[in-house]
Amino acid sequence: MFMRHETIEKNVILMVVLTLITVSIGGLVQIIPLFTIETTIERVDGMRPYTPLELLGRNIYVREGCYTCHSQQIRPFKDEVERYGHYSLAAESMYDKPFQWGSKRTGPDLARVGGRYSNDWHVAHLVSPRAVVPESIMPAYPALAERKLEYADIAQHLKAMRAAGTPYSDEMIANARADLLAQADPDADPTALLKRYPRAVVGKANGQAEGLTEMDALVAYLQMLGTLVSFGDLPPERLRQ
Ligand code: HEC
Repeated sequence: MFMRHETIEKNVILMVVLTLITVSIGGLVQIIPLFTIETTIERVDGMRPYTPLELLGRNIYVREGCYTCHSQQIRPFKDEVERYGHYSLAAESMYDKPFQWGSKRTGPDLARVGGRYSNDWHVAHLVSPRAVVPESIMPAYPALAERKLEYADIAQHLKAMRAAGTPYSDEMIANARADLLAQADPDADPTALLKRYPRAVVGKANGQAEGLTEMDALVAYLQMLGTLVSFGDLPPERLRQ
């Protein structure tokens, strides 16, 4: 036995080959079971892809690095659940590519900030955080209220998201521009938008500015965070993850 082991120890190539075989057996034992389960994320009623306006708002959130100070992941601890609401489900970030769980809370968790404040509050807060929360250390983002929202390529954007796995239908892609404009127009008829994207919050956040600004998209995104799944309707076994 020891003699044979000595042969392996003295022969580097043999050692490498045998090591690789051992490591790949370990790897396969971990990886193969994943192919047999359909998905690692349980589907939960209410989850839908982002509306075109929310999607652009989310891009601004990522671009501005909001995730460096804000997490979007409520952990199942009493203090967090009491402060922020029901703990986050894996399914709630299933359309987040990349996810925005974050790793640091300089500011509060935002996973359920949707509906907690008015649009006006969000706009005032983002333009000048200390105007509404005097002790705030959050940076101000006044430029967002003036920068025009770029949405000429919104249909292609949805198509790209579909290529990456988000289930946008042909109808959603064909109506991307119309849905984007309808969501930010309080006078538009939102029926078609709401049929495609239930619970979308309709309205123009940045009433001061002509046309669509980046602020309108960002606030639309913030206002939907954590509002899609209604926890009252779900039987407890659908909530356990
Ligand atoms: C340097 C860290 C920092 C960055 C970057 C930052 N924030 Fe904040 N944010 C805070 C702090 C601290 C608070 C708590 C005080 C306050 O309400 O202003 C806060 C509060 C908030 C709140 C209110 C949350 C609540 O539940 O009361 C929202 C909404 C918010 N931030 C959104 C954003 C968005 C959107 C961005 C990116 C455009 C952003 N923040 C970037 C630090 C930050």
